[in-house]
Amino acid sequence: MDIPWVFIVFGSWLFALAFVFKKLNHPKRKLPPGPKPWPIIGNLNLLGSLPHVSFHHLSQKYGDLMLLKFGSKPVLVVSSPEMAKEILKTHDAIFASRPVLAAGKYTSFNYSDMTWAPYGAYWHQARKIYLTEIFSPKKLHSLEYIRIEERQTLISRLYPHSGKPIFLRDHLPRFSLRTISRLVMSDKYFSDQSNSDTSIVTLERLQWMLDEWFLLAGVINLGDWIPCLSWFDLQGYIKRMKDSGKNFTQFYKYVLDDHNAIKMQKSGDFVPKDMVDALLHLANDPNREVQLTSDRMMGLMHSLLAGATDTSAATIEWTFQELMRRPNIMEKAHHELERAIGKERWVEEEDFSKLPYIDAIIKETFRLHPLCAVLPPRYSTEDCNVAGYDIPKGTTVYVNAWSLGRNPKYWDRAEEFIPERFIENNIDIKGQNFALLPFGSGRRKCPGYSLGMKVVRTTMANLMHGFNWKLGGDTKPEDISMDEIYGLTTHPKEPISLIMEPRLSLHLY
Ligand code: HEM
Repeated sequence: MDIPWVFIVFGSWLFALAFVFKKLNHPKRKLPPGPKPWPIIGNLNLLGSLPHVSFHHLSQKYGDLMLLKFGSKPVLVVSSPEMAKEILKTHDAIFASRPVLAAGKYTSFNYSDMTWAPYGAYWHQARKIYLTEIFSPKKLHSLEYIRIEERQTLISRLYPHSGKPIFLRDHLPRFSLRTISRLVMSDKYFSDQSNSDTSIVTLERLQWMLDEWFLLAGVINLGDWIPCLSWFDLQGYIKRMKDSGKNFTQFYKYVLDDHNAIKMQKSGDFVPKDMVDALLHLANDPNREVQLTSDRMMGLMHSLLAGATDTSAATIEWTFQELMRRPNIMEKAHHELERAIGKERWVEEEDFSKLPYIDAIIKETFRLHPLCAVLPPRYSTEDCNVAGYDIPKGTTVYVNAWSLGRNPKYWDRAEEFIPERFIENNIDIKGQNFALLPFGSGRRKCPGYSLGMKVVRTTMANLMHGFNWKLGGDTKPEDISMDEIYGLTTHPKEPISLIMEPRLSLHLY
């Protein structure tokens, strides 16, 4: 029997309609789950003052691979070790870039600071320079004398305060800034007083400039995500970023010109004595594949100064914050120091293999208080599929390191500070164990790991070795606040008042 033509037309029409309907309801791309975005702002309304905590709570509802919208732009939040491994190892190359944000433009010499540099030829060259010319074991060893001198200066400055309440925050940032500034550019450009004629900036001002930089590098600037608002600068961040960029440009230009002048003066007899000298030597090489322009030289200097200053001081502050709540851990550390070092000398970098308990204390601090609670954002340069979900090109990715260190599947009694969990368990902190990423992982992981660990380990060990510590005033261990201030790095909100007494022979101070 022949089918009437009207049925054929009607049937085809129904079939086409069903196809379109299916396409609309089941688009081909399978995106990760996430909260429904609002027009214009997307999900920005869900972020509190501590974005890592907001991400953590949202991930418990939507999963460890969660898609948000900041304005109209896609943002992927990664909250489990398994998913962190997918992004930072399996698909590392696709996610190796950084998003183009105002902070990178205005505060980092047009994306020349290594942290904000896009993945490409300049970034590759910068990383190679750091690893071979700046952080090689030989170079780091040759500058150990500066670290020893600065450590001794810190101890001598603390000693007269024995028996009186102090805040470590008044001493540690200055110490790490002095140490790293000397390693990078020698110490003649900054001074303790404003009336010195050889310096261009006081330590206090340089510290303020760096604090401001860290804050601005970590803020959620609305104009980055809702471009129509960027012109209005509603939060005032762009103005502050531009000012910060100007301040650092003036400082670094002065340092570079001065180093260049000395180099020209000495000509053939010139021997590089700090990291800026090493960079200038490389900049003059005409065969370099990517030329080191003035912006790039400033960016490379800045990555060193900023990368090293805040990180070690904040790690030590967090460690004390935890130890003062648990005097028995401090006691155990003192026993280890007495056994391995004695009371007649300071701890040196080469002693570290003898101090596994102190190492465990530092690792446990990194687990609960990763300095970058959320790793600096990554950015996808191609479409890709992660764990069955389609991630579009141009997605910004935040890996929540703070969540990884609290994952109950990997960490028993995850909220408690228990250094013993690291004893006899050789748990990696350099990016191989995705439940603990204090230095990040993959191509963008921290290039300053060795220097950072040398400074943190010896400073921490010597502060414990050299002094007995107790809480100042009538603060009790249970009163110590573990609240945080968020930025590119996360600090304790309320510093604690401490009283110290010397523990070693007095001629050592
Ligand atoms: C306790 C010490 C330190 C900690 C905890 C630390 C942590 C980190 C973290 C978490 C990252 C991001 C990694 C990622 O995106 O996956 C990073 C990147 C970086 N760090 Fe460190 N860092 C420390 C010391 C240093 C030091 C001493 C320097 C240099 C003197 C430095 C320079 C850098 C640079 C340049 C980057 C950017 C790398 C890139 O984007 O390619 N850091 N650091």
